[in-house]
Amino acid sequence: MTTVLPFTPEVARETEPLWERLKTVVPRFEWEMKAPLVAAINRLKRERRAVILGHNYMVPEIFHGISDFTGDSLELARRARDTDAAIILFCGVHFMAETAKILNPGRTVLIPDLEAGCSLSESITAEDVRHPGVPVVAYVNTPAAIKAEVDVCCTSANAVQVVESLGVDEVLFLPDEYLARNVARKTKVKVTAWKGRCIVHEQFTVEMLESYRAQFPGIEILAHPECSPEVCAAADFVGSTKGMIDRLDRPKSGRVILITECSMADNVQGAHPELEFVKTCTLCPHMKRITLEKVLASLTDLKHEILLEEGLRLRALRSVERMLALPVPARADADPGE
Ligand code: 13P
Ligand code: SF4
Repeated sequence: MTTVLPFTPEVARETEPLWERLKTVVPRFEWEMKAPLVAAINRLKRERRAVILGHNYMVPEIFHGISDFTGDSLELARRARDTDAAIILFCGVHFMAETAKILNPGRTVLIPDLEAGCSLSESITAEDVRHPGVPVVAYVNTPAAIKAEVDVCCTSANAVQVVESLGVDEVLFLPDEYLARNVARKTKVKVTAWKGRCIVHEQFTVEMLESYRAQFPGIEILAHPECSPEVCAAADFVGSTKGMIDRLDRPKSGRVILITECSMADNVQGAHPELEFVKTCTLCPHMKRITLEKVLASLTDLKHEILLEEGLRLRALRSVERMLALPVPARADADPGE
């Protein structure tokens, strides 16, 4: 049975600044149930010298309430590389926590739910990538066993930059077919795609985008490059989750829709009271396995720890470090679809 922690005056005081950021997206009754967990996690985090990295797809209570750093896959990999915390707790999916461990063999890396996977990561095996005959670029949405076999990793924020950094005429790009095809539109390098799909982004269709434009005249459509090339072509802007967030700072119409996982809009809405966000309903079931209750259990019992065999880690490290050695991509320039 789950014990509900009480919403005491002390908890109310401690969490008041967080409530200010969350009150437009979290109902008060929910906050009074979540705030005691938020306060307990933040106290324990300080005691344990832990850092919490939260992906942009986390629910708002995790994104605003307990994360020390938030961002896209690339930003969080850089944060993981640069931290001096004793414990890294990853609020994201397994491949992200594994990347943090690849970069931090000496630190404890925790994920609150080991089942938080990814349809892309599960679409390919190490055997599939052996002997390809051309250099291989792997999206970070892959297990360490794949990273150990490939030439270099990339994220959606730097995919074109990484492909071109190899100085070759042809690459195999895996596992996301749509991201590969979106990259191919932006480079002269021949990009051969694998057949993986993101179960969230593959749901969007051109007809849906046309329907949003018909229902909400003047709407600006921002899409993630894990969507199909047809959907990306029908959008006004294509970028990683960070790319989309950055784009919200530019002059535009007052109405916007983010064609991606649906917590994104909730998380950025507070920073943009001038914008009207039209919301999608597209949850990533893997990201949503991460809850405040599981984060508290994770920090309390130091579970679930990511462990990697050292030989595998060192081989995977090469491809991750090769990506991180490239300059941080300029805003929007690295977006495969724009
Ligand atoms: P980015 O945040 O790197 O754009 O990735 C999106 C994603 O689907 C991660 O799982
Ligand atoms: Fe994987 Fe798609 Fe979920 Fe991201 S949103 S973790 S790519 S299934």
